[in-house]
Amino acid sequence: MTKIAIGSDHVGIELKPVIIDYLQELGYDVTDFGTKTTDRTDYPIYGKKVGEAVASGDYDLGILICGTGVGISLAANKVNGIRAVVCSEPYSAQLSRQHNNTNVLAFGSRVVGAELAKMIVKSWLDASFIGGRHLRRVDELGAIEAKDDQKFVVLQGSTSSRYTDD
Ligand code: RB5
Repeated sequence: MTKIAIGSDHVGIELKPVIIDYLQELGYDVTDFGTKTTDRTDYPIYGKKVGEAVASGDYDLGILICGTGVGISLAANKVNGIRAVVCSEPYSAQLSRQHNNTNVLAFGSRVVGAELAKMIVKSWLDASFIGGRHLRRVDELGAIEAKDDQKFVVLQGSTSSRYTDD
């Protein structure tokens, strides 16, 4: 069963149980990494926790909610191995999995309602990485993260058709 780590700050806390219930209905194993109260808190705490849970391999995917999804996704993206996307519509969520192999999805409780959030989650979870030419780009992201400029340059030169596909 796919294991999902979920987290939010205090602004995302009302939407989070709706998403947890939905994920459980869909058959996912979900663990809430907080926050657990409506007390004001800081979104980096939960972006970091969920990012580390996914990067460690203990969880397959992560979902994050704050006011806009921006701050909490920025925090998760600071964890090595995390490719977090903030989405307010399903198309980008789907493409972010297919092309960018995102492993964390974020959205904003001040931006999307519960039903749209569920559509975004479903589109993201139903999609999977299609590899091919997209693998090189994801590997380039990894080289930036590793500060491996040599690998980054080698990867860029590893295809002759880079301007003939999308
Ligand atoms: C909290 O006011 C708000 O800044 C936070 O939930 C989030 O939107 C940050 O990006």
